[in-house]
Amino acid sequence: MANVIWGLATSHVPSIGAAMDNGKTEDPYWKPLFDGYAPARKWMAEHPPDVAVIVYNDHANAIGMDLVPTFAIGTADSYDVADEGWGRRQVPPVVGAPQLSEHLVRELVDSSFDIATANRLDVDHGLTVPLSVYCSEPGEAWPCTVVPVLVNVIQSPQPTAARCYEFGKAIGQAIRSFPQDSKVAVFGTGGMSHQLAGARAGLINEQFDRWFLKKIENDPEALAALTREDYVREAGTEGIEMIMWLVMRGAMSTNISRVHDAYHVPASNTAAALALFDDLGDRPETAT
Ligand code: DHB
Ligand code: FE
Repeated sequence: MANVIWGLATSHVPSIGAAMDNGKTEDPYWKPLFDGYAPARKWMAEHPPDVAVIVYNDHANAIGMDLVPTFAIGTADSYDVADEGWGRRQVPPVVGAPQLSEHLVRELVDSSFDIATANRLDVDHGLTVPLSVYCSEPGEAWPCTVVPVLVNVIQSPQPTAARCYEFGKAIGQAIRSFPQDSKVAVFGTGGMSHQLAGARAGLINEQFDRWFLKKIENDPEALAALTREDYVREAGTEGIEMIMWLVMRGAMSTNISRVHDAYHVPASNTAAALALFDDLGDRPETAT
């Protein structure tokens, strides 16, 4: 049977990827952020998953504004890295896990999440930067296969935080009912507080971010209770990406422990964070 072994919440700021791609991680601007990642990276390298289910949003790079699915799952054998206007990142293509994808699609539709399927998809920084946060030097190939899970966070109305949390629970159940032996890591990406345009561009709300970072572990219900207007007001128009962390959290068991977290301002114009959780409920040594 498949198991969720850990969950990683991480910002997906494009310049974090660019810093890695251009050898700038030791520069004074970036060093504190990457130093903050180090303990999590070490732990993840010691607990490699077979598959990463990566919950992210496309930023109108691969999915145009003509058709905006609220939730979608990639079902392809592989996903090319999107050209976001400055050439493709020089990272390996993303190898899919189509059997798990198709299982998730079927189970989710049967649980009344009538999601779209993406049978062809280029993946943008929302997915590739978190993969680089997990594995900074993939060489020729990423160390795991990937199931992309897309959430619309850019066009109103975004799904509610409560719906995202329930979506995550349904994903967790579906993963655990996959008959093949597979170690699965779930990534929730985006955030933290940021607003890239408009009168409040550059908004950072450290108090809200730190409260969210605390609650995501043991009181996700408090985060699920917030409206989308709450998220936009407190965290900014793009800070609403944080609802995707709730999908990750919902997919984990109730028995989790925090391995590491880090919070850093600024990365680009944003607050960036990472939070890594071990899923104890699904570890073989605790199984009854
Ligand atoms: C930026 C873009 C993002 O998608 C994000 O989540 C944070 C920052 C940026 O362009 O700076
Ligand atoms: Fe984003």
